[in-house]
Amino acid sequence: MKAAILKKTGDVDHLTMKNIPIPEIKENEILVKTKVASINPIEVKTRKGNRFSKELLQDEYPILGWDASGVVEKVGEKITEFKPGDKVFGIIGFPGFGKTYAEYFVAEEKHLTYIPEGVSFEDAAASTIAAITAYQALKDFGKLESNTKVLIHAASGGVGHYGVQFAKHFGAEVWATASGSKEDFVRDLGADHFIDYKTQKFEEEAQNMDVVFDLIGGDYIDHSLKSLKKGGVLISIPSATNEEVEEKAENAGCVGVRFSLKNNKKDMQAIARLLKTGELKPFISESFPLDEIREAHKELEKGHTKGKIVITME
Ligand SMILES: NC(=O)c1ccc[n+]([C@@H]2O[C@H](COP(=O)([O-])OP(=O)(O)OC[C@H]3O[C@@H](n4cnc5c(N)ncnc54)[C@H](OP(=O)(O)O)[C@@H]3O)[C@@H](O)[C@H]2O)c1
Repeated sequence: MKAAILKKTGDVDHLTMKNIPIPEIKENEILVKTKVASINPIEVKTRKGNRFSKELLQDEYPILGWDASGVVEKVGEKITEFKPGDKVFGIIGFPGFGKTYAEYFVAEEKHLTYIPEGVSFEDAAASTIAAITAYQALKDFGKLESNTKVLIHAASGGVGHYGVQFAKHFGAEVWATASGSKEDFVRDLGADHFIDYKTQKFEEEAQNMDVVFDLIGGDYIDHSLKSLKKGGVLISIPSATNEEVEEKAENAGCVGVRFSLKNNKKDMQAIARLLKTGELKPFISESFPLDEIREAHKELEKGHTKGKIVITME
C-alpha cells in the first residue's frame, strides 16, 4: 500500500511516499481501507518535533495521521461490532498512533463509529479531532446552555467552525473572532456577533462572557480574561501555552481549563447523529490526494485554513 512516511522531524520534505506492506491485524483489531483522512495542526507539530515525534520515529513505518474514514476490509476473530464492507470513521489510536496517512489503517473497535446513511466519507473524516475537541470543550467544560454568552476564537478554522455550530446547538449566544474576509462564513455558521481580530480588540467588543474558547493561546489567555465575567470559564486548547491558564484565570477570579481531548466513542456517536440530521455541517476548504501530502501540510501550517483540509486516497 502507499503511505506517507516521516523520515525525521523537520520540514515537509521529510514526508515521503513509500510502498509498504498492508498491515497485519491481531484478533481484536480491524483493517480499514482508507477513503479520506483529515489533517490537524497537531500533525504539523509532530512532523516538526513534539512529545509524539520521538516515539513515532522509532516505528518501522513512522506514519502520521489520526483522523480517517473508510471501509472495513477485514476483522480479527474477537471483533463483534463490525464486518467487512461497513463504512466507518474515527480518531484512530489516539493518544497512541493512528497512521491514517496510508491506504489502509488498523483500528480497535472502540475507535470506530459507523458513518450514518447520507454522510460522505469526506464529511465524516473531517468531523473527528476538530469536532470532538469543540464538542467536549463546550459541553463538558463550558457547560453551554440556553443564553450562555460564549466567545470563540479562530471561529473560521478546523475546531472553531465546529465550535460555533455546537454553541448554537446548545442554545448559546456566540461572539466569534476571525479576519474580516471570513465574516460571512462565520455568520453563516451561526455566530451572532463577529469580531475582526485584525482591526478590532476583541476584549473591548466581547464583555461579560460566561465562557471563552481560546484556540490561539499565548497572550490570548491574558486578553481573553478581560472578556470574561467574574467566575467565567476560559478553556484554552493549544498545548504549547495552556499550562498557564489555570493560574492566570484564578488570579483574575475566573476558572481556567487546560483542555486535552478524550478519544470517546459516545461523543463520536453524538457527532455522527448531528451529521446525519444536518445540524452539524463540516466545511472542507481543500482536498489533496495522498501523493500531495506535503502541499496539504504547507497549506495547513499557514494558519489560515477555512474549516478543514482533507486527504483522499484515490
Ligand atoms: N488540546 C487539544 O486536545 C487540541 C485539539 C485540537 C486542536 N488543538 C489546537 O488548537 C489550535 C487550533 O486548531 P485548528 O485545527 O482549529 O487550527 P486551524 O484550522 O489551523 O485554524 C485556522 C484558523 O485560525 C484563524 N486565526 C488565526 N489567527 C487568528 C487570530 N489571531 N484570531 C482569530 N482567528 C485566528 C484563521 O483565520 P484567518 O485566516 O481569518 O486568520 C483560520 O481560519 C491548534 O493549536 C491545535 O493544535 C488542540
